[in-house]
Amino acid sequence: MPDLQRRLMHLISCNQFRKEDVERLIGSAEENRDRKNLHLQHKTIATLFYEPSTRTRMSFEAAVYRMGGNVISNEDATQSSSSAKGESLEDTIRMVSSYCDAIVLRHPADDSSERAAQIAHVPVINAGAGACEHPTQALLDLYTVWREKGKIDLCYALVGDLRYGRTTHSLVRLLGLYNVKVILVSSDYFSLPDDLLKFIPNCHKVDSIDEALECEPDVVYLTRMQRERFPPHLKRCSNVFSEEHLNRLKKDAIIMHPFPRNEELPKTIDRDKRAAYFRQSENGLWMRMAILKELVK
Ligand code: CP
Repeated sequence: MPDLQRRLMHLISCNQFRKEDVERLIGSAEENRDRKNLHLQHKTIATLFYEPSTRTRMSFEAAVYRMGGNVISNEDATQSSSSAKGESLEDTIRMVSSYCDAIVLRHPADDSSERAAQIAHVPVINAGAGACEHPTQALLDLYTVWREKGKIDLCYALVGDLRYGRTTHSLVRLLGLYNVKVILVSSDYFSLPDDLLKFIPNCHKVDSIDEALECEPDVVYLTRMQRERFPPHLKRCSNVFSEEHLNRLKKDAIIMHPFPRNEELPKTIDRDKRAAYFRQSENGLWMRMAILKELVK
């Protein structure tokens, strides 16, 4: 994808993508499933995580190793990097970028990836920036929809903490490239920020999963309450996906979740074949290989 790579030295926001970029990355991710990709031989990728992660960090690191590269990692940078001694993100990025060929960064500040990209002389990949964006998650989400449903122009119900959930903030930006209908399911307090509504003109808001199911969504995308980002007295989760919801869901619909999950997605749902979330997590490996291949030259 030379065109995408020219425009994207860094991967900061889903605003950077055109529809053809998304589709080429989906094609590249699909190829990675059964074609050897040793694109990162003799390359070193730094994974610098200031917030907890299971899937994003490990799938990026697994992707690097599969591609013949090496990883240097700081999985708990708040505690175990010199950030604990007062070093700024900018100074850390300046140092780390001289040790590697790309930096995969997760940080609690919304503008962290942008700040890092201004300093780094290697590609910066946003692996989660505060409550703002998580673009590689959105790419693997669309890859999953394409694999499961064969197309992306569908009806989506986005459920949960749409205010602080960075995965949905990135996802709506990508859905805006398609002809989609979106049902936003949350209480008022946790509704999607107004500035994101422009990406999904064909959308409406409801309070409950029950109301959303009346619109017969093809994709139900559940998210957890981002409890680390809002005051403790608001901790209640108002929308839990139940067996009754499962019975009302279209037979060919899919249920997605970026994970980690909490009470909004009971484990009893896992046995249903429409539960696509473990397949979704696996798809992260193939999509992150595609992203690394395009950005690391
Ligand atoms: N979906 C996601 O970002 O998961 P992790 O926090 O485990 O990386």
